[in-house]
Amino acid sequence: MTDILIRPLRESDISKADHVFRLAFGTFIGLQDPLTFFGDADFIRTRFMANPSGSFAAEVDGELVGSNFVANWGSVGIFGPLTIRPDLWDKGIAKQLLKSTMDYFEKLGTKHIGLFTWAQSPKHLGLYQRFGFWPRFLTAIMAKHLEGDGTIFADQATMPDEEKTSLQWSRYSEVIAEDRRGCLNGCRNLTTAIYDGLDVQHEINAVNTQSLGDTVLLWHDEGRRRLVGLALCHCGAGTEAGSGACYIKFGAVLPGANAAIYFDRLVHACETFAKAEGVSRLVAGVNTGRHEAYRKMISLGFRNEIQGVVMDRPNEPAYNKPEIYLIDDWR
Ligand SMILES: CC(C)(COP(=O)(O)OP(=O)(O)OC[C@H]1O[C@@H](n2cnc3c(N)ncnc32)[C@H](O)[C@@H]1OP(=O)(O)O)[C@@H](O)C(=O)NCCC(=O)NCCS
Repeated sequence: MTDILIRPLRESDISKADHVFRLAFGTFIGLQDPLTFFGDADFIRTRFMANPSGSFAAEVDGELVGSNFVANWGSVGIFGPLTIRPDLWDKGIAKQLLKSTMDYFEKLGTKHIGLFTWAQSPKHLGLYQRFGFWPRFLTAIMAKHLEGDGTIFADQATMPDEEKTSLQWSRYSEVIAEDRRGCLNGCRNLTTAIYDGLDVQHEINAVNTQSLGDTVLLWHDEGRRRLVGLALCHCGAGTEAGSGACYIKFGAVLPGANAAIYFDRLVHACETFAKAEGVSRLVAGVNTGRHEAYRKMISLGFRNEIQGVVMDRPNEPAYNKPEIYLIDDWR
């Protein structure tokens, strides 16, 4: 094998990178036709478009053989999917891609970096440990089949009437242009109250500009309307959800005494949103370190579909704490 070149991914690389991505994962999990991996969901184009400068390609003999993608969430950064063409596994290509990825985080000054990987694979854990990541809690990718309109939500039953009516949701796509900056600042204030510097504005903008779905905004009207929750949802083919599904890529509520109620209402709002979009499955990932949120999802009718482990650098919980009501899976 000649030299490995690591370079920025270009738009013209997308279809090749998508091919390698499906082939690599499909081969790893042993699919008969590896290229069917992830159906009509998209992880490559959407992530490249969301952050071109954080998208990396590995090239061998002039051909693209691997890629990796960074999502910049302010003080938190995640990366993946990292994939290498299967006939070139174990030749050090992923290590070189990871080196460039870590240099990029260094420039961003990211405080906490994380990833989701296969808990059962010694290779995956060993590879990431070389770069200072350590396995912590499992993350569950959960799903709920949506049917009818009569879902009873656990906390709604016990919620005082005035709380029910003072909580309303809306869509980010409906926010008028002049109010968008203020709305994004509100989202940042909410997430930074959970973990200092956590900021998912890039993702909200990506969903909006690429028409991947919408961001559900939850408001508490106590005389003054306050943002108390947000959930970035991908919907349908060509997004991270795939046909027939709504995927909550990131969802969070204001921490504090009302967090459980807000979370309940946020998931409820996502369910209503998903039905309005005509899909029949709601998918959401929760780190089991967020014990209350994980239990709440189970009580709301979600079941685990995929489990993986989250690895963190540094080896600290960041916002993966029992009392934090937050949805994301770092895939
Ligand atoms: C995971 C994947 C990206 C790795 O790519 P790769 O180019 O084969 O990896 P590299 O050759 O650069 O790295 C190999 C390293 O893995 C680690 N490793 C491999 N086998 C190991 C084992 N049994 N125990 C511990 N560490 C092991 C080592 O650190 C090794 O480097 P070293 O031998 O110098 O110590 C690739 O196999 C792939 O595309 N898999 C399918 C998709 C996937 O799972 N992606 C990652 C999702 S999180």
